[in-house]
Amino acid sequence: MKSINTICLICCMLLSSCSLLEGNRLKHNFYRKTCPNVESIVLAGVKKAQQQEARLPASLLRLHFHDCFVQGCDASILLDDTSTFTGEKTSGPNNGSARGFEVIDQIKTELEKTCSGVVSCADILSIIARDAVVLSGGKAWKVRLGRRDSLTANKTASNLFIPPPTSNVTAVIAKFKAVGLSAKDMVTLSGAHTIGQARCITFSQRLYNQSGTGKPDPTIKKDFLQSLQQLCPQAAAAGSSNFLAPLDFRTPTHFDNRYYLNLQAGKGLLNSDEVLYTTTGFTNRYVRKYGDDQEEFLNRFRRSMIKMGNIKPLTGKKGEIRNNCRFTNSGL
Ligand code: HEM
Ligand SMILES: *[C@@H]1O[C@H](CO)[C@@H](O)[C@H](O)[C@H]1NC(C)=O
Ligand SMILES: *[C@@H]1O[C@H](CO)[C@@H](O)[C@H](O)[C@H]1NC(C)=O
Ligand SMILES: *[C@@H]1O[C@H](CO)[C@@H](O)[C@H](O)[C@H]1NC(C)=O
Ligand SMILES: *[C@@H]1O[C@H](CO)[C@@H](O)[C@H](O)[C@H]1NC(C)=O
Repeated sequence: MKSINTICLICCMLLSSCSLLEGNRLKHNFYRKTCPNVESIVLAGVKKAQQQEARLPASLLRLHFHDCFVQGCDASILLDDTSTFTGEKTSGPNNGSARGFEVIDQIKTELEKTCSGVVSCADILSIIARDAVVLSGGKAWKVRLGRRDSLTANKTASNLFIPPPTSNVTAVIAKFKAVGLSAKDMVTLSGAHTIGQARCITFSQRLYNQSGTGKPDPTIKKDFLQSLQQLCPQAAAAGSSNFLAPLDFRTPTHFDNRYYLNLQAGKGLLNSDEVLYTTTGFTNRYVRKYGDDQEEFLNRFRRSMIKMGNIKPLTGKKGEIRNNCRFTNSGL
């Protein structure tokens, strides 16, 4: 056993994919004895949230992504700022944007009633992400569990590792590679933008001044450009930079392959979305493949989600099981 682990460790050092090895320590039935109803309790909470607001599944799915890209899937994103501590909630990608934290609080409270001190906030995020996809019409997968919660967060890392929406293909592939995910995982996981909303501020450079040209991004289809310009006036007056547009304008709450068809029609919302199609090569081929074959997309999506959920989990005795997802147990 020890020698197998040693061999694996060497392999993983050679392949520089140690995060994946650590992900292998996660188990499907981790809470079988300690909290057998964990998945049904979480699912009930996500269902309730969806009934409250159709956008919430999207917001919750995004939290898992923003958690995993910053020091691994350890619920660091859930920590609140305190007088002595600054968390990730006010980083560039999260400030005024990351949402759904109350849903997590409610689910955690329910879980504490039945299995106190057992289920980590990091695992809750991972189960929620799966449920958000399934409740929106995507395919289910078995979530691996056993992650523990971090004692810290890292705002600098949140700013550094989460790709900005103005990114080109090279930049966004680099951000995924940095956490052990491939270019293919990137194109596939970008398909999460088949649900949810984005603020004008995240794409308005495309409408008025793409790459400092003083002109709109020529790859945006004309009628789509006009409707977005109407929604997002240039003079960012009256808080219009916070107005929202659907990431998939055709089926904004349904988890399907429309996102990829939109990109092919010049109707992707973010720069980082549209460039997947307009940049020739690998990503363009996958956009067309997924546009042609929804099954292929849905199947690949769950594989890549499992991979993302395996990024550097805290296991064994590392970290802790938080009592409240917003604070470490010591409160520091
Ligand atoms: C490929 C690089 C990515 C970039 C540049 C990016 C960027 C963004 C931006 C700018 C928004 C809108 C935020 C706002 O207006 O405040 C957004 C929303 C969203 N993102 Fe991404 N994202 C990426 C990948 C992902 C991945 C991998 C997932 C999940 C697997 C994801 C899931 C979502 C969801 C579901 C929303 C909608 C959230 C809501 O409605 O509250 N994104 N993304
Ligand atoms: C976060 O956004 C709010 C307004 O939405 C703003 O007042 C605040 O300065 C921002 N914080 C940071 C750290 O950018
Ligand atoms: C936060 O992340 C940055 C960027 O990866 C790193 O340089 C820094 O050491 C981290 N800080 C802590 C306290 O872990
Ligand atoms: C892509 O973006 C990066 C970072 O912003 C930049 O350095 C690079 O020149 C860009 N590449 C292309 C092909 O535009
Ligand atoms: C467009 O952006 C560039 C910098 O990216 C800036 O120098 C220029 O003034 C902007 N033009 C307009 C019309 O806003």
